[in-house]
Amino acid sequence: MAKKTIADVDVRGKRVLMRVDFNVPQDDKGNITDDNRIAKALPSIQHVIKNGGRLILMSHLGRPEGKDRATDAPYTIKPAADRLAQLLGKPVRFSPEAVGPEAEKAVAALKDGEVLMLENVRFYEAEQIKDKKAKEDPALKAKKEAFAGQLAAFGDVYVNDAFGTCHRDNASMLTVPQQMTGKPRVVGFLVEKELQYLGDALNSPKRPFVAILGGKKVSDKIGVIEALLGKCDTVLIGGAMNYTFMLAQGRKTGGSLVEPDKVEEAKRLLQLGGAKLKLPADVVAAKELKAGAATQVIEGDIPDGVQGFDIGPKTTAEYKKIIAAARTIAWNGPMGVFEVPPFDKGTNEIAQALVDATAKGAITVIGGGDSASAIEKAGLSEKVSHVSTGGGASLEFMEGKPFKAVEVLDNK
Ligand code: 3PG
Repeated sequence: MAKKTIADVDVRGKRVLMRVDFNVPQDDKGNITDDNRIAKALPSIQHVIKNGGRLILMSHLGRPEGKDRATDAPYTIKPAADRLAQLLGKPVRFSPEAVGPEAEKAVAALKDGEVLMLENVRFYEAEQIKDKKAKEDPALKAKKEAFAGQLAAFGDVYVNDAFGTCHRDNASMLTVPQQMTGKPRVVGFLVEKELQYLGDALNSPKRPFVAILGGKKVSDKIGVIEALLGKCDTVLIGGAMNYTFMLAQGRKTGGSLVEPDKVEEAKRLLQLGGAKLKLPADVVAAKELKAGAATQVIEGDIPDGVQGFDIGPKTTAEYKKIIAAARTIAWNGPMGVFEVPPFDKGTNEIAQALVDATAKGAITVIGGGDSASAIEKAGLSEKVSHVSTGGGASLEFMEGKPFKAVEVLDNK
């Protein structure tokens, strides 16, 4: 069911409580190294400003897990508020508390068209109390609800534009909109776009529909491989998880990263997938993971003393052919250690293949996290149909898991 968006609400003079995902990467001095998630929330933010709403933004940053601001200063969200002000070209007020008297004062002082950012909601333990735990323990339930109640009181309208956190039942994502029943509760433009691209690709794909799944661990991707085998025409495997599949086939993997306790799962997936599930025909291996390391291409067993770090040229050529013939392509997880050249080659070539497919009319959707970083690093993110801002969220969406934080919002 399509959700109402912020465009369906008259925000003039209203306090718009918007959950964003400004969980952005920072260097060790706290400088933001990638502001993509902030930039992608701008359309919703500008919409509220332009239409005379009073915007109150809340987000998490990292996982301070309720630790105090004083002892956990690196997690302050102030740098994100400052970057937002730069991108907007107008001041963004900042409350050093997310709830409490100072936050209440800041909210009350807001005027039409102004923006206030609340401090990191994860400085409060209640934010991350899981609903399952809250159900078992009335004290935890009360704590989560009390915290959410303070936030909910700030808003006349609730907006969820935090796609990257939609798979969480955090207080600001789920309990707050639950407590705002009767007031408008809608999605922002970013969440609308993510749901549309990911949803269309998965639920009404033009065929052939190909999924490319990489990354380190099979354990992270079991659910998504299984779900996509039921929807796709072909599933291409890359990344270190290939080595666990090789173990499952009884092959040697040398010193490559493997998950021996997942071999039985890998065997099951191989059986389930049959010819649909394609593993790399060759890998690029080296003695150590070092930029510029001497490499060898290996087909079949990987000998002791070397490790696989990327898909090989034969695999890349085969995968490129399959991608070129596809009309919908979903990609989640790099093909190799793309941060360390020359082991970025497979990932970069696959990224380019997706760009070429997009130019020929295919719908190409990139899951967030590492694959988004890889396509960004290759300078190609503008040349595919959609790059998700959600890492875990896009993975869970592809797995078909429901998002309670979205379900709770108003339907069209
Ligand atoms: C992410 O970066 O995937 C989101 O911001 C969610 O963060 P979390 O995994 O700490 O909940």
